[in-house]
Amino acid sequence: MENRVIKTIKERVSCRTYSDKKVSLKKALEIAEAGKFAPSGKNRQIANIFVVNSKKYVERLRKLSVEQLNRDCMYGAKTILIVTGPREDAFTFQDCSCILENMFVAASALKIATCWINQFDELFQSKDGLKIKKQLGIPEDHRVVGSCILGYPKEGTVLAVKERKADFIKII
Ligand SMILES: Cc1cc2nc3c(=O)[nH]c(=O)nc-3n(C[C@H](O)[C@H](O)[C@H](O)COP(=O)(O)O)c2cc1C
Repeated sequence: MENRVIKTIKERVSCRTYSDKKVSLKKALEIAEAGKFAPSGKNRQIANIFVVNSKKYVERLRKLSVEQLNRDCMYGAKTILIVTGPREDAFTFQDCSCILENMFVAASALKIATCWINQFDELFQSKDGLKIKKQLGIPEDHRVVGSCILGYPKEGTVLAVKERKADFIKII
């Protein structure tokens, strides 16, 4: 029988259509906690996770993406976990990516749908974006590496694991 953790990893898929049902703060924090336990380069723990649970701020982030990119980057999700680290640090991308993947897998284990959202570093460069970044308490010298939206798939959404290329793994 396949190990339950490995099975969860293999079942994770991105979801881009969410119902109005919000993930509880308790579950969002449980997922963020899994992110916190990701490895970090030299154990310096340079990253932060911003759990945006406030309806007001989720809406402001959604509006920011609609205004600047002409599309809703939030896909209707009501919670977003923004992962940041110092812009100039050599380990920021690696540390934040480990955190994000831990959170995707943890959410999958809790039957909560997710998707990596990549646009917020760019969106936070604008005047309005910079204001929101500041209000969220994200340090000025931090960049957003990625965000994890949380929610429940809209009724009728079909989520299928994508096929992986045949030569993904090389044995030497
Ligand atoms: C670095 C990175 C950036 C991504 N950015 C976005 C994004 O901005 N919006 C989005 O809908 N999906 C984004 N994704 C999700 C990918 O499109 C998705 O993982 C890929 O299509 C494979 O599908 P799966 O996650 O269901 O396996 C991103 C994924 C990664 C790893």
